[in-house]
Amino acid sequence: MKILIIGSGGQLGADCVEILGQSHRTAAVDYPEIDITDARSVAAACSLHQPETIINCAAYTAVDRCETDAAAAWAVNADGPGLIGKAATDLGARVFHISTDYVFDGNKPVPEPYTEDDPVNPLSGYGRSKLAGERNLLAACPDAVILRTAWLYSAHGPNFLKTMLRMALSDPRRTFTIVDDQFGSLTWSYTLARQIEKLLDSSLHGVLHATSDGYSSWFEAACYFLRQMEVEHSFVACTTEDYPTPAKRPANSILRNKVLDDNGLSIFPTWQNDLDAFVAQFRDQLIAETKKLLDKA
Ligand SMILES: NC(=O)c1ccc[n+]([C@@H]2O[C@H](COP(=O)([O-])OP(=O)(O)OC[C@H]3O[C@@H](n4cnc5c(N)ncnc54)[C@H](OP(=O)(O)O)[C@@H]3O)[C@@H](O)[C@H]2O)c1
Repeated sequence: MKILIIGSGGQLGADCVEILGQSHRTAAVDYPEIDITDARSVAAACSLHQPETIINCAAYTAVDRCETDAAAAWAVNADGPGLIGKAATDLGARVFHISTDYVFDGNKPVPEPYTEDDPVNPLSGYGRSKLAGERNLLAACPDAVILRTAWLYSAHGPNFLKTMLRMALSDPRRTFTIVDDQFGSLTWSYTLARQIEKLLDSSLHGVLHATSDGYSSWFEAACYFLRQMEVEHSFVACTTEDYPTPAKRPANSILRNKVLDDNGLSIFPTWQNDLDAFVAQFRDQLIAETKKLLDKA
């Protein structure tokens, strides 16, 4: 299959390139080679590569910055998917697009998960822009597949786990406070890329939830990760109130992959199992990279 992967330099994009490149003809594009806010740029990439499938991993993912850089975030997260949907429809290509747990307000009691049937009500500019992206894409391309994922990490690019590792290695005895009253499902982008590969052969479309099984708080996830990494740390739990951020985040964004489960298609293990596999594969590399960064600082 000819697949165009947009946002190929990001966490998920890089994993999609690696996995799908093994058994498909892939073309990988990222900003500035493609700008998904520009209809001509999207059409030109589609015309050049003539994909049968487009996977859009590109997004404006800096959640707090979406509050202050709202127009740019909207152009990428809300308008971009609509433009990709239109180009895909013109070409007769199928689209896979990625959305977020932050489309929910988190008012359900923990650990009640959100399914695809639950009403959305984003709390942040990021969540609102991603929700508008879902709707714009489906309006332009009703057969598109939208995977809502959460709390992504990978070996590529910055993410929460890498920040935790940097903090711990910078001073194992320094007390850092980590939020312990927001709950979600840490998800390895490599597994999400494998899930996308599995869906290439299915006829599913519309919105699907796609996260690891189980849930934790940010604090629990950070401590579990550093324990598996065997990195000494002095983290303590704090509340959202103790750690104010520009963007409001849902207290509960645990997702249930109901559609994938009902169709026997989910490949996600528990977040702990995936994190164990991630650590086994990347521990030495992550520590070496982080020490290098700290030496330079
Ligand atoms: N990260 C998370 O925790 C998380 C959670 C839930 C859902 N998601 C969703 O999952 C998807 C993948 O996330 P990720 O963490 O892999 O993202 P990422 O690492 O931030 O990568 C996003 C990629 O999009 C590119 N991009 C930004 N603006 C663009 C534009 N106008 N045109 C073309 N490319 C552009 C970026 O390029 P530059 O680096 O040059 O800007 C980057 O390569 C996104 O849809 C995101 O919203 C992520």
